[in-house]
Amino acid sequence: MHGFTVLGIETSCDETAAAIVRGPPPGPGEILSNVIHAQLDHEAYGGVVPEIAARAHVEMLDGVVERCLEKSGIGLDKIDAIAATAGPGLIGGVMVGLLTAKALALSTRKPLIAVNHLEAHALTARLTARVDFPFLLLLISGGHCQLMAVEGVGRYRLYGATIDDALGEAYDKTAKLLGLPYPGGPKIEVLAAQGRAKRFPFPRPMLGRAGADFSFSGLKTAVRQTVSELAVPVTDSDKADIAAGFQAAVLDVLRDRTRTAMQKFRTEFGNTNDECNFVVAGGVASNAAIRGALTDLANQEGFALHVPPAALCTDNGAMIAWAGVERLAAGLTESLDFAPRARWPLIDLRPLNEFAK
Ligand code: KG4
Ligand code: ZN
Repeated sequence: MHGFTVLGIETSCDETAAAIVRGPPPGPGEILSNVIHAQLDHEAYGGVVPEIAARAHVEMLDGVVERCLEKSGIGLDKIDAIAATAGPGLIGGVMVGLLTAKALALSTRKPLIAVNHLEAHALTARLTARVDFPFLLLLISGGHCQLMAVEGVGRYRLYGATIDDALGEAYDKTAKLLGLPYPGGPKIEVLAAQGRAKRFPFPRPMLGRAGADFSFSGLKTAVRQTVSELAVPVTDSDKADIAAGFQAAVLDVLRDRTRTAMQKFRTEFGNTNDECNFVVAGGVASNAAIRGALTDLANQEGFALHVPPAALCTDNGAMIAWAGVERLAAGLTESLDFAPRARWPLIDLRPLNEFAK
């Protein structure tokens, strides 16, 4: 039993990526090829420039898809469906990927699968390990920060989300304040490991509040304030201490908010003694300190933690192809007139007749 084979295309931000993945849900699946071209032109601008990103996707995508087919060792005729990110994301890039997928689907007469980028992050844990539904999901990326219950493909219940900045955004903005190039998340992680977390006691927004919402803009403002009060030039050890203080605050907030969500998940889905599943996904999930803190929390709360390997946490084609496998197995394909969406919350995927539940 090898399940479906799907080609997946990802172009929603600054990675031009394509992959071919095969397998039956609930996983694990097999990655036949996974090609990714990271656009580096954005570093100099301190963030992703949508127009530059879209043009680069136009230039790169054909070659990336071609290499992905070559490396997989199989032809287009062996592929069951073509999947692409149809949103949310930078609309120019999403249009390039979705249109390319439509052209491939049309010429090969294979079904088209319009993938929600967030759902692809959510389901990636099942590509590399068998993880059964339902599971609690912490999605932490450049554009999102949310806690949800995942009951199945397309079936999400929102527990909490950020009321301002996403977590990746908070990392990137902090990095920018320290003069580090985009994307700053990985650089902050490295610096934080060298710094003294206690020197700057930054605020822990939302700590102890009811519910599972997040807020990071106050933390960013505190970092800006601290940087502006330091003597110039800010030294490397100052930067490391700020990064360490920032990350310590992030860890406390993540632990607190996730614990609340775990308790809610257990009352809704678990028996008191059952081990529940907990998945962490999105680019920020590649952060080792965050993985460590959440491993400890999961152990305390009786949850089994599943985090995809770091390279599959940040944007890639394999996660889109795997979401395609999951959707194809559930019979969820789209017609060729599916429109790209800049905004597309996960809860909108839930079948309309289930909204009352
Ligand atoms: O999921 P992703 O690749 O793109 C989006 O869908 O947003 O996430 C990118 C975000 C960026 O904000 C980046 O700085 C952050 O993930 N990130 C990290 C780390 N690696 C990537 N943040 C903290 N620590 C890391 N090691
Ligand atoms: Zn992403």
